[in-house]
Amino acid sequence: MTATPYPILLTPGPLTTSDRTRQAMLRDWGSWDTDFNAITARIRQQVLAIAHGEGTHECVPLQGSGTFSVEAAIGTLVPRDGHVLVPVNGAYCQRIARICKTLGRRLSTIDYAEDRPMRAADIDRQLAADSTITHVAVVHCETGTGVLNPLDEIAQVVARHGRGLIVDAMSSFGAIDIDARTTPFDAVIAASGKCLEGVPGMGFVIARRTALERCEGNSHSLSLDLYDQWKYMERTTQWRFTPPTHVVAALDQALQQYVEEGGLPARGARYARNCQLLVDGMEVLGLKPYLERKVQAPIIVTFHAPADPRYDFKTFYQAVKQRGYILYPGKLTEIETFRVGCIGHFGDAGIPGAVKAIGEVLAGMGVEVGTTVDA
Ligand SMILES: Cc1ncc(COP(=O)(O)O)c(C=O)c1O
Repeated sequence: MTATPYPILLTPGPLTTSDRTRQAMLRDWGSWDTDFNAITARIRQQVLAIAHGEGTHECVPLQGSGTFSVEAAIGTLVPRDGHVLVPVNGAYCQRIARICKTLGRRLSTIDYAEDRPMRAADIDRQLAADSTITHVAVVHCETGTGVLNPLDEIAQVVARHGRGLIVDAMSSFGAIDIDARTTPFDAVIAASGKCLEGVPGMGFVIARRTALERCEGNSHSLSLDLYDQWKYMERTTQWRFTPPTHVVAALDQALQQYVEEGGLPARGARYARNCQLLVDGMEVLGLKPYLERKVQAPIIVTFHAPADPRYDFKTFYQAVKQRGYILYPGKLTEIETFRVGCIGHFGDAGIPGAVKAIGEVLAGMGVEVGTTVDA
């Protein structure tokens, strides 16, 4: 059992947050108040610093879940007659493709198997063959499976061809380095409730200033117009429409803890340790990860479900929850899997405790999973 009165979330956001982060939401803020606007300014500056974008990029926060920011970035940065190339190796890449279609942006895809990272060489070939492509949009860590795509290689190829790059770094930002000084991009998109360990409710887009400056009038939408959001915030220091005040206050507190922990190197190392403990522990139980280790991001791990007919995800999930851990269903259509997140504010005992609980639950269900050793 865990020490907390509620289960640890082993999910890729919402995730388990610290008491300090949650306590930051116990006070109300006026959206016009200068103290609140100072928090917004601080968050923008800190997020920009994580990506080393000071002086070259702008951090534009936006209300809503992560998808709102992805949609806003594509709708704002890609002109209406633009053409987006989307390499697809999972559910969140498919979501980007769907956004392009919904917004009426011309779309081309390169399709991969879900257990394979996308390849810069394929993008290179496609860009060489089609000069109408204006932007490439990729997912950094494809949370649908946990596969890590080679962002820097892709960014170099896209820059060499003089096209724009839009990166959905929702589940990697803050834990896996993205350095604007060396990895060229037009936009990186992330959100409050992922590796920065805030609560969900807002996203942000780190956009190259020279790219953003050209985007007036591109957007199909009033509320998702990042250019307008940026200009308004610069002019007034306020959010254009009602801000998620408590979410902003919690993210500010979460960012303070991020810095205290040692920033990205420390956060990334903690998640990598969690991931290693998880994969090792589950393998001892006989549970096999879906991905090869060399393409696995230290964010979320997909496991093959046991083949035993006595296994049933809902029963398994509920029993593990009773023991204090919330797991995540699989997102693959063809193979039965489940996922376990490595991110969030839980102590070193979190992952070993979860592995132990999983082992006990499967044993209790009478499910055969191969070699079973006391975890
Ligand atoms: C890679 C990726 N993109 C986008 C999202 C945004 O999803 P949502 O709108 O549900 O926050 C997520 C959420 O987990 C994600 O992992």
